[in-house]
Amino acid sequence: MSALQHEDPRIADLVHKEARRLEETLDLIAAENHSPPAIMEALGSVFNTKTIEGYPGRRYHAGCVNADAVERLAISRAKALFTAEHANVQPHSGTSANLGVYFSVLDIGDRILSMTLSHGGHLSHGHPVSIAGKCFEIQHYGVDRETGLIDYEALTSQAKAFKPKMIVAGASSYPRLIDYEKIAETAASIQAHFMVDMAHVGGLVAARVIPSPVPVADFVTLTCYKTMMGGRGGIILCRKAFAKQIDKSVFPGCQGTSAVNSIAAKAVILKIAMGKPFAAIQEKTIDTAQALSERFIKKGYRVLTNGTDTHQVIIDVASRGSDAGLVEKALERSNIVLNRNVLPGDEQKPGAISGIRMGTAAMVARGMGRAEAGIVADLIDRVIIHVTRPEVILSVKKEVASLCHRFPVYQAPV
Ligand SMILES: Cc1ncc(COP(=O)(O)O)c(C=O)c1O
Repeated sequence: MSALQHEDPRIADLVHKEARRLEETLDLIAAENHSPPAIMEALGSVFNTKTIEGYPGRRYHAGCVNADAVERLAISRAKALFTAEHANVQPHSGTSANLGVYFSVLDIGDRILSMTLSHGGHLSHGHPVSIAGKCFEIQHYGVDRETGLIDYEALTSQAKAFKPKMIVAGASSYPRLIDYEKIAETAASIQAHFMVDMAHVGGLVAARVIPSPVPVADFVTLTCYKTMMGGRGGIILCRKAFAKQIDKSVFPGCQGTSAVNSIAAKAVILKIAMGKPFAAIQEKTIDTAQALSERFIKKGYRVLTNGTDTHQVIIDVASRGSDAGLVEKALERSNIVLNRNVLPGDEQKPGAISGIRMGTAAMVARGMGRAEAGIVADLIDRVIIHVTRPEVILSVKKEVASLCHRFPVYQAPV
C-alpha cells in the first residue's frame, strides 16, 4: 500500500482514476502533453519542500546548496538550448512569465499592442479581465478575415498610430508560423520592446523544426508543459541588457518563493530537448497535425488557414451546422478531449463559438503518427455528424479504447 493510499484513500483513488483516464483518452488538447516519467519523478522529488527566495548564490534562506545547483543547471541549459543571452527559470506559469516581462520594462498605464483573444491571442496578453488588461493600456491586432493569417500591414499601421511601448507576438490558437522578423522591424521603427510568447510552440522551437524568435525578440516566454513536454511552469529568455530587470521583476516583483521541484523538471526537459529523439517527436508532431488537417479538408471542413505549420489544427464546425460546445461534450463522452474555440469573426455574433482546436503533441508523445491522424479525423467526423446519437458515440468510444490500448502513455504506473 502506498503512503498516499494509507493517508488519503480518496485522493489515491482519484490519482489512480486519472492515470486510467489518461490511458483511455485520446488527448487532443493543444495545450497539453504527456510528460516523460523522468519529469514526473523530478516533480515529485524532495525538492518539493525546499523554500528558496532570490537567485543561486544570493538566497534568503539557508540550505540551498543543491537547489542552487539545480537552478544553475536549468539556466545554463535554457540558454544553450535556445541560444539565449539570459534565462529566468522561476516563473510558476506562462502567465507569470508574461507578467514578469511586462513589469520589467513597463510602468502602469504604458501601452501594449498584442493579438486579440478571439483571433488566437491569450488572456495574459492584456484581456480586460486579466491583471495586464487592468494595469496597461491595450490595443489588439488580429488576422485577415479571408486568409486567417496575421495582417502584418494592419499591425504596422496600428503600431505607428498607437505607439505602444511593447508589441507582443505569439498566440494560443494560431496554426501558422509567425513572421517574427517583420514584427521586430515594426517594433524597432517605433522604439517599442518586442516580446514573443511562444508558450505553445516552445518544443518545436527547441527542436529547431520551426524558426526561433530568440534572435529578433527582446524577450521570449514559454510554458514547459505544452509541446515542451516538461511539466508545469514557465521560462523567460531575454537579452543580457534586460537580465537584471527581468530577475528583479520575477522575484521579488511578481513572485515569492519559487518551486525547486518544478525548476528541476525544467532542467530535465531542457536536457532531453537537446537530444535527437526529442527533435524526432517534434517533427512528427507537425507531420501528424498536417495529416489531420489534410483529412479534415478532404472531408469538406473549413480548416483555419487551410492547414498548419505547427501542432495545431483548428476547424470550423459551425459552418457544418454543428454546435462546437455540443461537439466538445459528445467527443468527451467518446473519450476524445479537445476544446471548443472562438474563431475570427465570432466576435461579431455574441456568444458564438464556431470552432474546435486540436493539438497533436500528446498523440505523438504516446507513439501515434500520420496513420492514426487519419483514423482520429474519421472518428471526430462521425461524432460531429451524429452528435446526438448515443449509439454512435459509444461505438466511437470503443474504437478510441482499442487505439489507446495500442499506444500506452506509460508502460508502467508512474
Ligand atoms: C500563448 C499562451 N501564453 C500563456 C499561456 C498561459 O500559461 P499558464 O496557463 O501556464 O499561465 C498560455 C496557456 O495556454 C498560452 O497559450
